[in-house]
Amino acid sequence: MEEKVTASAIANRKGKEKIVMVTATDEPSGRLVDQAGVDVVLVGDSLAMAVLGRPNTLAVTMEEMLHHIRAVVSGVRRALVVGDMPFGSFQVSVAEAVRNACRLVGEGGAEAVKLEGPRIAAIKAIVACGIPVMGHLGLTPQSLHLLGGYRVQGKTVESARGLLEQAQKLEAAGVFALVLEGIPPSLAKVITAKVGVPTIGIGAGPHCDGQVLVLADLLGLSPGPVPRFVRRYASLDTVIRQAVAAFAGDVRSGSFPAPEECYPDPPELSAWAQGEV
Ligand code: KIV
Repeated sequence: MEEKVTASAIANRKGKEKIVMVTATDEPSGRLVDQAGVDVVLVGDSLAMAVLGRPNTLAVTMEEMLHHIRAVVSGVRRALVVGDMPFGSFQVSVAEAVRNACRLVGEGGAEAVKLEGPRIAAIKAIVACGIPVMGHLGLTPQSLHLLGGYRVQGKTVESARGLLEQAQKLEAAGVFALVLEGIPPSLAKVITAKVGVPTIGIGAGPHCDGQVLVLADLLGLSPGPVPRFVRRYASLDTVIRQAVAAFAGDVRSGSFPAPEECYPDPPELSAWAQGEV
C-alpha cells in the first residue's frame, strides 16, 4: 500500500508538486477519490448543499458533519482526511472550538480540521492539542450574510493587504495549509509567495500550491448554474438519469429480471408451484 499522506507531508509540498484536494461525503465517494490518487479528502460543509439539499453551508450541524466524516474515513486508505468545522462550532469560544475539533478527530476519525476566517486564538489552541489545522480565507461562505453574498474578496489594494496580513497571522498560528477561496489571481499569487505554508485555491486562479473542487461540481451532479471556477469533468446527472430510466423501462416491459438474474427453481418446487397457479 502507498504511504499514508500526513498533514506535515502536505506542508512540505510547498513549492514542489501541486496539491490536489477534493471533497467527499460518504464511503463510496471517499473510496473513489482516494483510489483516484488525490492528496487530501475534505469532508467540507458544502455537503449541506451537495448532499443534504440545504440552501447554504450555515445549515449543517456538528452531528451531521460527524456522521459524514465517519463514513468518508471508512473509505479512505491513503489521502489525508480533513473535517470541516461547521458554522457555530468554533465561533462562540476557544474552549468550544477545541472541544469540537477534538470530536471531529476523536469521534469522527478526521486527521485534521479546517475552519474559516482569521480565528487566531482558536487555531493556536487546537494546534496546541496536537490537531493539524487548515485555514480558509477570502470568500468564506459561513460569513455569507456579512459579506452580502458570494462576492469575490480582496479586490482593492487595502482589502488585499488585509487578507495577506490575515494569511501571515494564520501561518504564525500554526496552520499546515491554507484554502484561498474567491480572490483575484494576483492576490493569490502574492499570498502564495509570502506565506511558508501551501495555499490551496478555489476560485483563486492558477498560482496557488494546489487546487480544490467540490466533488458534486466536478462530476456534474450539482444543479446549475455553477460558479465560474468550476470545471465539469463528467455529466453524472445524465448518466444516472439514463441508467434509472433504462431500469424503469425494463421493469415496465417485463424484460427485467431475465432468467440469469433469478435464483434457479428446485425441480420439486416448480412442479408444486405449477399446480398452485
Ligand atoms: O466545504 C467545502 O467544500 C469547502 C471547499 C470549498 C474548500 O470549504
